Amino acid sequence: MTKTSDQNRIEHLRNEIARHDELYHRRAQPEISDLEYDVLKRELEELEKAHPELASTESPTVRVGDDLREGFESYRHLQPMLSLDNTYSKDEFFAFVERVEKGLELENIAFVVEPKIDGVAVSITYEKGKLVRAVTRGNGTEGDDITANALFIEEIPRELKGKGLPDVIEIRGEIYMRNDEFDRINAERNAAGLEEFANPRSLAAGTVKMLDREEVAKRRLNIILYGLGHCEPEIVAFQSEFHDRVRKWGFPVGERFWKVEGADAAWAAIEELDSMRDAFAYPTDGAVIKTDALSQQDLLGKTSKSPRWAIAFKFAAEQSETILEGITIQVGRTGVLTPVAELKPTKLAGTTVSRATLHNQEEMERKDVRIGDYVIVEKAGEIIPAVVRVLVEKRPEGSAPFVFPESCPECGSPTVKLEGEVALRCVNHECPAQVRGRLEHFASRQCMDIEGLGEAVVDQLAERSLVSNVSDVYRLTFDQLLELDKFAEKSARNLVAAIDRSKSNELWRLLHGLGIPQVGASASKDLAKAFGSVAALREASVERMIEIDGIGEKTAQGIVTFFGSEQNASIVDALFELGMNPTAPEIPSGEAAIFESMTFVITGTLPTMKRDEAKELIESKGGKVAGSVSKKTTYLLAGESAGSKLTKAEKLGVEILSEEELLEKVASESAG
Ligand code: IVH
Repeated sequence: MTKTSDQNRIEHLRNEIARHDELYHRRAQPEISDLEYDVLKRELEELEKAHPELASTESPTVRVGDDLREGFESYRHLQPMLSLDNTYSKDEFFAFVERVEKGLELENIAFVVEPKIDGVAVSITYEKGKLVRAVTRGNGTEGDDITANALFIEEIPRELKGKGLPDVIEIRGEIYMRNDEFDRINAERNAAGLEEFANPRSLAAGTVKMLDREEVAKRRLNIILYGLGHCEPEIVAFQSEFHDRVRKWGFPVGERFWKVEGADAAWAAIEELDSMRDAFAYPTDGAVIKTDALSQQDLLGKTSKSPRWAIAFKFAAEQSETILEGITIQVGRTGVLTPVAELKPTKLAGTTVSRATLHNQEEMERKDVRIGDYVIVEKAGEIIPAVVRVLVEKRPEGSAPFVFPESCPECGSPTVKLEGEVALRCVNHECPAQVRGRLEHFASRQCMDIEGLGEAVVDQLAERSLVSNVSDVYRLTFDQLLELDKFAEKSARNLVAAIDRSKSNELWRLLHGLGIPQVGASASKDLAKAFGSVAALREASVERMIEIDGIGEKTAQGIVTFFGSEQNASIVDALFELGMNPTAPEIPSGEAAIFESMTFVITGTLPTMKRDEAKELIESKGGKVAGSVSKKTTYLLAGESAGSKLTKAEKLGVEILSEEELLEKVASESAG
């Protein structure tokens, strides 16, 4: 591979991983399995290792995922919450033990092997035995204060009893939902005609981050504690003592952990854990192996995001062999054709699977998947099952490669492959599958969040020609809804109210819901902040948009094209005529706005602040942060190893600030 193709691949992987991070951490709606995610991350790590010159502090390989969400106070952890390095390979696990032994210059180290609980990380602080706070992991340094929601979890004691209570202690654990509770909630939703939740982990993550307390109270969550953060004074010297100690305080801890010496014994414990974990009440996706002595943990230390004294060994996703009986094609909201495997039903991770995704045409060709093939399907957690490979040696004679349809299976228009894309598309905007997809997207939780307007309801509305674009949602009447299957007065009234409420949603939700190409939740938030209204965004030029950090030329061009289409413009106009009145993000004014009408660009590594932090600080004072230096840039905030942006700023005569100077300006409240 040439360097430029590596460079492209790195960029592509960084974007993809960031997208999956957003889906997993913030929206709790993962699209791919942990294994698939880890494979992407591994590839990026390898490429970055081969090209140190392309390293970036913004790369997901050096950052901890971020679950911070609006509507919650954030709180700084007394001790950062790190993530764990993980591996699926026995060799790599033994290499980890070797590194630990080398680091400590000792052999036969004592390890603790624990179940890795697949839930949502939380840190609970007690002061003098009284619960004061529960905080999510957030970005590792600070998390969201979810105390109000955590108090609904009965297993969390409000007060610790007993002798020798520390003055301050952060206890870390994992909030999860039991399978039976998950099934109960989905059964209820199904009966009410609501969209079902995808899996227990996502539902637990979503619940912990809900602002609607009444709803939180209706869902039962559980917790398991596994470790300590800050503790003053120290109360235990070994991880193996931790479990006993917190159990005595009334906390639930994993029913089993193994205290072992040396790599072989640790490996045996991992295998035993794998063989018995199905019987645990909580979902596990691996084992966590930690040095037992906290003093050894201190000696080994940590990298920027994970400790050197622990590793997660992930159990492979469950796989099963079956026959591919057919291939159907689904058309999504953007017209992309997704091939779906129709399988001979097979048992997999506790459920019967008869369909699996084949991703796209390119993937199918790469794996050479053919009807009649024996295939391996995989399902990790409750994620959509996927066909991972074909058993070519079992291929029946006379099979032929699958030929993709030349016309859309939903509307019959010719399909095309756009330049630079892997997928085939139907480009007929009126295609019924696309119309339904756009409406589902608009109403979904990560967009307008209209409760009660899920797939089943959208299908009915489209079938009865009650809706053909998103503005039609606001024309629906109580009487029309009452006619729908499974609808009664109460559900019709609720849906009317939910639709009405959505008119005053935050602006970014509307922007995301419009389905502008490339504009996901996070770009929508940036755009909402920068422009404050749909009208201002419609008027904006490409040049103005690319000044926003995170908005590239392609996205900006896509936005201009989107609003330039007569059809889209009339839908947006209709939305506002029907009463759409989104809430604009707060833009600081008056005294707080010392950086008003100034544009900053940030480059290099700052001595103490992360770039996100600097960005937030500047924006909180009314300034804008742009991605590239131009004549309009007021200041370049430059840290160590600043590169081309610094050169350009110098050439254009843009004033250059250090972090210290920025902080001075903020402190003196005058930016001039
Ligand atoms: S120890 C310094 N032990 O897995 C990191 N983590 O992938 C200490 N997790 O953030 C983490 N079960 O949320 C530890 N028995 C266990 C765990 C566990 C689940 C989670 C935790 C962590 C994530 C890392």
